Amino acid sequence: MTAAQTLLRLNRIHPLKSQDDVHVLDFANEATDVSSCRGAPTVASIDLPPTDLPPSLLATLPGRYYTDPAVFALEQSRIFEAGWFCCVRSADLTTPGCFETVQIGQESVLIARGCDGALNAFRNACRHRGARLCTDDRGAVKRSFRCPYHAWTYGLDGKLITVPNLTDMPDIDRTKYGLTWLAVREWLGYAWVCLADDPPSFEDTVIAQVTGRLGGPEEIDAYRIDELGLGRRINLVPDHVIVHRMFPRGPDRTLVRCDWLYLPEVIESGADLSRSVELFHRVNQQDFEACERCQLTMGSRAYARGGVLVPSEHHIGAFHDWLRAKIKNLRGG
Ligand code: FES
Repeated sequence: MTAAQTLLRLNRIHPLKSQDDVHVLDFANEATDVSSCRGAPTVASIDLPPTDLPPSLLATLPGRYYTDPAVFALEQSRIFEAGWFCCVRSADLTTPGCFETVQIGQESVLIARGCDGALNAFRNACRHRGARLCTDDRGAVKRSFRCPYHAWTYGLDGKLITVPNLTDMPDIDRTKYGLTWLAVREWLGYAWVCLADDPPSFEDTVIAQVTGRLGGPEEIDAYRIDELGLGRRINLVPDHVIVHRMFPRGPDRTLVRCDWLYLPEVIESGADLSRSVELFHRVNQQDFEACERCQLTMGSRAYARGGVLVPSEHHIGAFHDWLRAKIKNLRGG
């Protein structure tokens, strides 16, 4: 499944400095188009949830939601490019000129710390001929980004600074050819970016969801959460926090970035953190292997109409309903 599941497990929050782990969930499988199989159910029929389930069981999404490029494209445009996306640890962009690039939906996004200390986010595309401005995942520049193709150069605030032979083009208004700016918010130690032309309220969406789970702002402050990172999925354990950020790469592939975050004093104490990192790393590996094992059969006719959720899994049904509503114009979706 490419739409990351918003799932907060709350114990007690304690924070952070990070150790990183990156995992690519490789969901590649062979049979993804069940509708093309001889004798397979039609797309419309496989989308109809079973009507004969006992009350203890809820239907899952049909298998094609995990394999169909059309579903993936809708997820990208209606979820990941439409809402706020937790994309980089803002604490990693320490000084002006530090930058990272991330893929959000179909867009490469450049996030950079500006001269004023604030974060800026741009579509990572030169306004001249569209070359990708930065191809590195992260790095630092002094004061500007220079496109390697024809040397158009942009400031850390995205403004176009110089263009070769600009004096030969007196009619060019540089203010109209800056990088395309994106909405960005720095909160809970992460940069949140929204690609939408008209971003939804950050307070009414992200903050409301988080406070709905953690309690009001006072409770969050009590956790010193400004030192924490918070992602699409977070696990809170007694002496550290583990944040998962999920970057969909394709219908059958998701990049998972995992941050282990500790209180600064825990880091400074020189305590051996490797055991706690290793413990959850093992949990991660088990979860990843289970997901990859399920993904192998998402294209099977056995799963064309999906599976079932037992009572302890019924909360997942709410997520499926949410996802269906987001992409509801999909035929039969
Ligand atoms: S494409 Fe960037 S300067 Fe020409």
